[in-house]
Amino acid sequence: MQSLLNYKGMKKYNWGILGCGKIAGKFSSDLVLLENANLYATASRDQLKAQSFAQEFGFEKAYGSYEAMLKDEKVDIVYIATPHTFHAKHALLSLANYKAVLCEKPFAMNKKEVLSMIAKAQENNVFLMEAFWTRFIPSFQKVLEMINTKDLGTVKMIQSDFMFHAPFNPESRLYNMNLGGGSLLDIGIYPVFVALITLGKPENIVAKAMFSSTGSDEHLEIKLEYPAGKVAYLKSGFMCNSFNDTIFHFERGAIRISRELNETIYVKTNKNIEKLKVDDGLGNGYQFEASHVMDCLDKHLIESPILTHTFSLQLIETLDAIRKEIGLVYSNHDE
Ligand SMILES: NC(=O)c1ccc[n+]([C@@H]2O[C@H](COP(=O)([O-])OP(=O)(O)OC[C@H]3O[C@@H](n4cnc5c(N)ncnc54)[C@H](OP(=O)(O)O)[C@@H]3O)[C@@H](O)[C@H]2O)c1
Repeated sequence: MQSLLNYKGMKKYNWGILGCGKIAGKFSSDLVLLENANLYATASRDQLKAQSFAQEFGFEKAYGSYEAMLKDEKVDIVYIATPHTFHAKHALLSLANYKAVLCEKPFAMNKKEVLSMIAKAQENNVFLMEAFWTRFIPSFQKVLEMINTKDLGTVKMIQSDFMFHAPFNPESRLYNMNLGGGSLLDIGIYPVFVALITLGKPENIVAKAMFSSTGSDEHLEIKLEYPAGKVAYLKSGFMCNSFNDTIFHFERGAIRISRELNETIYVKTNKNIEKLKVDDGLGNGYQFEASHVMDCLDKHLIESPILTHTFSLQLIETLDAIRKEIGLVYSNHDE
């Protein structure tokens, strides 16, 4: 690794952005907040786009192809921000060039692809993590802590949804099947993540979807069933807006957290409702996962102890199983 040392003797890591789209912009503006992150390089399929992105966020170098950036020995960590259907290809390419990888969610299109990525990370002894940013934001960490104390009992039921209105456009990433279109892989993955991290892998899955004319799931309702009657009711979709709430129901109360009511956690015990404010800091919230990646690299890890390869495998297995249940097929990826 070509890491530099900053004035506090911390290792500074050279980040490379692979794909200069929307989320790459938000992520890069958060990288600026981290003193051990060096905004080093951008890579786009278009040189001018890479240059303008680099200029906007203050990266040193701009490459007109992903491959060219991956050949730059100074790049330590690659953030993969291309559409889902390219995640496996770009992660494998980065790992083959011995770059640590933080890859956007969903990690890949199916379990087989995720397994190939993990195998490459292990073979080349290189760090690999799914960019599941919500796992690292303080307000969500606080909720997990509260669940673990068992003060309210155990989680019996979860309700979680993520929906926004996205007008139909067959070319857009949200509807185009060649780009992994559909609500499950784009936003439904968040409610599924919440259920998995709290209740684990379900025993049974019931799901129903409405499809757009491209074959993408435009609206999806999922029931994850667990032993002892525990259950998660999840929704995702592009048909309408929502408060994008998650409610954890316990024997002695409930916890509500909303993506729209950022940093506010509502805790209900009997008839009292307490409002907790958690400081999620400056920025969009992506700095926490980026900082964690660098902590892992400081420790020479190839896997995060918080967002493990096993967890990412369970997540993709559950997504695969939901897809099977509703008949959602990506023909270039599914056998
Ligand atoms: N963590 C989050 O909060 C969050 C939020 C939104 C999205 N995401 C994830 O991030 C990924 C990218 O989402 P996005 O909304 O940033 O998408 P986007 O704005 O469409 O950007 C994707 C970028 O991928 C590159 N790309 C490579 N091949 C492409 C192709 N054939 N067609 C289109 N673009 C291609 C393009 O970069 P160049 O032109 O520079 O090569 C494009 O700008 C998705 O997997 C999504 O699930 C995560």
